[in-house]
Amino acid sequence: MKILVLNGPNLNLLGAREPTVYGRMTLDDIERATRAATEHLGVDQAWEQSNHEGCLIDLLHQAMDVYAGVVFNPGAYTHTSIAIRDAIAGIGLPVIEVHLSNVHAREEFRHRSLLAPVCLGQILGFGADGYRLGIEALVGHLQQRISTLGSPQGTRV
Ligand code: DQA
Repeated sequence: MKILVLNGPNLNLLGAREPTVYGRMTLDDIERATRAATEHLGVDQAWEQSNHEGCLIDLLHQAMDVYAGVVFNPGAYTHTSIAIRDAIAGIGLPVIEVHLSNVHAREEFRHRSLLAPVCLGQILGFGADGYRLGIEALVGHLQQRISTLGSPQGTRV
C-alpha cells in the first residue's frame, strides 16, 4: 500500500517557525519520527512539501494513479483554497486533513476549513503526532475498504 504525505506552505520552516505554536521539530524530524512510529503498518510513504498552490494541486492529481490515499497538512490553504478543495474532490482518493495546532483555539479565520467537507476526516491539535494518527486512520480506512469491497479499480493498494 502506497500513501502520500503532503505538506503545504510554510511547513518547510517548521522548527524555526513560531515554535510556541508548532514546536521545535523540523519537517524532516517529523518525517523521521512518523516513519519510525508507523513502520509496523508496512505502508510505503512518500513525503512532499510545496509552498505553491498549483504544485500541491499537481501532486494531488499525480497521486490518483500512484497512491491509495493522502495525509495532507494544507497549511493556510486550508482556509482559502477552493482550487485545492476541487482537486481533492476530483481525485476521489481518501484524504485526511492534518494540522499540528488546534486551529479552533486560534484566530477566527482559521476556524473554517474549505477542505474538510471533501476530506475523510480531520486530525488537529496533537502536534507532530497528528501525522502518525493521520496515517493510522487512513490505513485503517483503506484496510476496512479492502476487506469489504476488495481493491477498487484504479486504486493502488
Ligand atoms: C497549520 C494551521 C494553519 O492555520 C496554518 O496556516 C499553518 C499550519 C497547522 O498545522 O497547525 O500553516 O496547518
